[in-house]
Amino acid sequence: MSSKLIAPSLLAADFANLQRDIEMVNQSDADWFHIDIMDGVFVPNISFGMPVLEAIGRHAKKTLDVHLMIVDPDRYIKTFADLGSDVLTVHYEACTHLHRTIQAIKAEGMKAGVSLNPHTNVNLLEDTINDIDLVLIMSVNPGFGGQSFIENTYEKVKQLKALIERKEASTIIEIDGGVTNKNAKALVDAGADVLVAGSYVFKSDNPIETIKDLRGIANS
Ligand code: DX5
Ligand code: ZN
Repeated sequence: MSSKLIAPSLLAADFANLQRDIEMVNQSDADWFHIDIMDGVFVPNISFGMPVLEAIGRHAKKTLDVHLMIVDPDRYIKTFADLGSDVLTVHYEACTHLHRTIQAIKAEGMKAGVSLNPHTNVNLLEDTINDIDLVLIMSVNPGFGGQSFIENTYEKVKQLKALIERKEASTIIEIDGGVTNKNAKALVDAGADVLVAGSYVFKSDNPIETIKDLRGIANS
């Protein structure tokens, strides 16, 4: 992938001003909307569900990158397709039949993503990597925004990049958790294609400028 992409995570938006924050992302240099769906079972937090995603979809003008942190995601693949998801990412740890889940996501016309928790080895994707459009490497434990970046992520990204090249796959790599201007360049150098940023963008004084800077660093 030539251009490196920035995906602001709406988990860190002001939900009382969600339309305002969505319009900010529309106006910005951001490439995707990253949308975190949590069920309180797979992760110890509940974010928001279908009615909120439906409302987001009415205003968002960029790719909807939906990250499911839920058990048994197969139950909802069609629902998330109907809600306008462009990329649908499930967790490796939540899928008993990962290959079947990936095919089901693609059958609904979406790009298929697979996310790995910090403890999950990238080589577990050896037999499925050619079927996966995107691998989302968690650089924090999923469930909350605003956590500290786990340094071992760089090594994982390098290992994943090597696997993708060895298998001649076209999979892209996304990083999620604790991304800032401090680690963006090193992540891209290690092989990342898409950087998710929540708190760093939405808690900054000027989110539009922060997105612009981050995108500039990622593409420098
Ligand atoms: C965490 C979510 C992330 C979160 C990132 O479980 O998957 O997308 O919003 O937030 P920051 O960038 O604040 O770490
Ligand atoms: Zn996420």
